[in-house]
Amino acid sequence: MEIGNFVRDEIKNMKPYEPGKSIDYVKKKYGITRVIKLASNENPYGPSPLVSEVFKKIDIKELSRYPETFPSELLEAIEEHTEWPSERVVVGAGMDGVMETIFRLLIDKGDRVILPIPTYQYYHTLINISGAKGIFIERKEDWRIDAEKIIEVAEKEKPKLIFICSPNNPTAAAENKEDVKAIVESCDTLVFIDEAYGEYADFDGISLKNFFEYDNVIIGRTMSKAFGLANLRVGYAVLNEELKKEYLKATTPFPVSTISALVASTALRDRNHLNFVLKNNLSERERLKVKLSKWLKVFPSNSNFLFVRVDGQSKTFTEELMKRGIIIRDCSSFYGCGYNYVRITVGKKEENDVLISALESIFER
Ligand SMILES: Cc1ncc(COP(=O)(O)O)c(C=O)c1O
Repeated sequence: MEIGNFVRDEIKNMKPYEPGKSIDYVKKKYGITRVIKLASNENPYGPSPLVSEVFKKIDIKELSRYPETFPSELLEAIEEHTEWPSERVVVGAGMDGVMETIFRLLIDKGDRVILPIPTYQYYHTLINISGAKGIFIERKEDWRIDAEKIIEVAEKEKPKLIFICSPNNPTAAAENKEDVKAIVESCDTLVFIDEAYGEYADFDGISLKNFFEYDNVIIGRTMSKAFGLANLRVGYAVLNEELKKEYLKATTPFPVSTISALVASTALRDRNHLNFVLKNNLSERERLKVKLSKWLKVFPSNSNFLFVRVDGQSKTFTEELMKRGIIIRDCSSFYGCGYNYVRITVGKKEENDVLISALESIFER
């Protein structure tokens, strides 16, 4: 029996996901003891300190009971944070989990999905797994979406879904409200706005969160970035009420554990910690940007990472930093980047200082 033959062609034809190198791998490979990871847009400040209190209060007997499908405590905390009405909010195992359910809900084999590229890779995975047809539209020179082109193509191709990632991973900038509004109002289709980095953009007053008023808009957010809870796996989205009813049929029955819901609610309500994270990220990001701009082209960022041009050198540049104990993201695996760009997460001051010294040793030796 050829076991592989049982696997769907859509999966067999996909390349496996290549995660970035781990800290342990780099330590062993280069025989170094101090390694800094600035590759996954994680939050270096960690979650709210109030979260540890939640763990202390957990009654382990409760672990034998299934949680609520969408824990009410969490929906309330999301409403307080976003002003989205909780009747329209869904939660899942990370925003990736929410998007997976959205695909189950909406996307049939052969359906068209528009992606402005380069963008977050998991959209490509979802398109490939579902057998949908991805329509890729290049961004403009400033890396913003080409709204006119998207509207023109959508008219012709009649897509089921358009993804807009704002701020976009890996290009870092948030979209203009006018561009997004034009797409939402002109295209007869659903638009998924991914605001995984929305809190960072919010700090600059340019979040797109008011777009939830439109029936054809779904906005996704996550606890993984500004709230420093990537390991907790909690994401959420706001969508039309009618669509939420259908979503409930498509989701796994208990996507978020009670512990995760309590931890996430506590973190969402700790405004002080969020403000501390956003303030430090902003000052470090701008400091790093000025320093890096001495040697490289750094694009404007509204998030917790920088998108940097390295002209055909993404592999060697990433390797050079790795040898010096710094892991960054080579963007060559992002469709539409070539070998020309890297993505660097903004770390804590001391981590960024190590990066700056390493760059001095590369460019000023
Ligand atoms: C743009 C974007 N969307 C979604 C996600 C996934 O978030 P989560 O950890 O909630 O699944 C990420 C994670 O890096 C991301 O960069």
